[in-house]
Amino acid sequence: MKFFIDTADLDEITALTETGMINGVTTNPSLIAKSGRPFLELIADICQAVTGPVSAEVTAIDAPTMINEGRKLAAIAENVAVKVPLTEDGLIACKTLSDAGTMVNVTLCFSAAQAILAAKAGATFVSPFVGRLDDLGQDGIALIEDICDIYANFPNFTTEILVASVRGPQHVVDAAKMGADIVTMPPDALRQLFQHPLTDKGLQAFLSDWARTGQSIL
Ligand code: E4P
Repeated sequence: MKFFIDTADLDEITALTETGMINGVTTNPSLIAKSGRPFLELIADICQAVTGPVSAEVTAIDAPTMINEGRKLAAIAENVAVKVPLTEDGLIACKTLSDAGTMVNVTLCFSAAQAILAAKAGATFVSPFVGRLDDLGQDGIALIEDICDIYANFPNFTTEILVASVRGPQHVVDAAKMGADIVTMPPDALRQLFQHPLTDKGLQAFLSDWARTGQSIL
């Protein structure tokens, strides 16, 4: 299972890359706005900082302009994945860009039907948003289960399921149980994965018992 980090904060990306847990990065226009940095320059910097795919989202809503934006974004670096919204125009752009060999991440997926369309359009990744469905009182993880089941029925679907809008460790574990390919999560959610109160308590006890021995390994 691959982990992507959902942020446009280059310092966070660099720091978390050192954990060896990061296989890629996702950004969106809101995260770019939060960074306060010029979009194209920031994507170039992120692409240099990581070896895996870096999603950079188009902002046009018509297919021809999305395709032009996508080509410009893809020219930044080989590891750019152009992100397009799951709309009719977005899927036209997905097909054109994918056919030309560009990685495409189809984002804002909220139904299994939409995920089928993304696969048929040749998307490299489809991003179902679990947290935003949960926020509406719906079951985001049930959508992941549906998409995993459907894609498993069609070996010619090569689209990877990129679970997005992740709020915490339970989403990651549930997505892993379903067999999702990738989870993208904010830096704080990734850090939560390392943590357990019994780990902290156990370590404290081991360290204090060790101190009483008066020994040192080095
Ligand atoms: C995914 O690519 C999106 O950038 C992201 O996961 C959205 O998450 P949010 O619902 O927390 O904004």
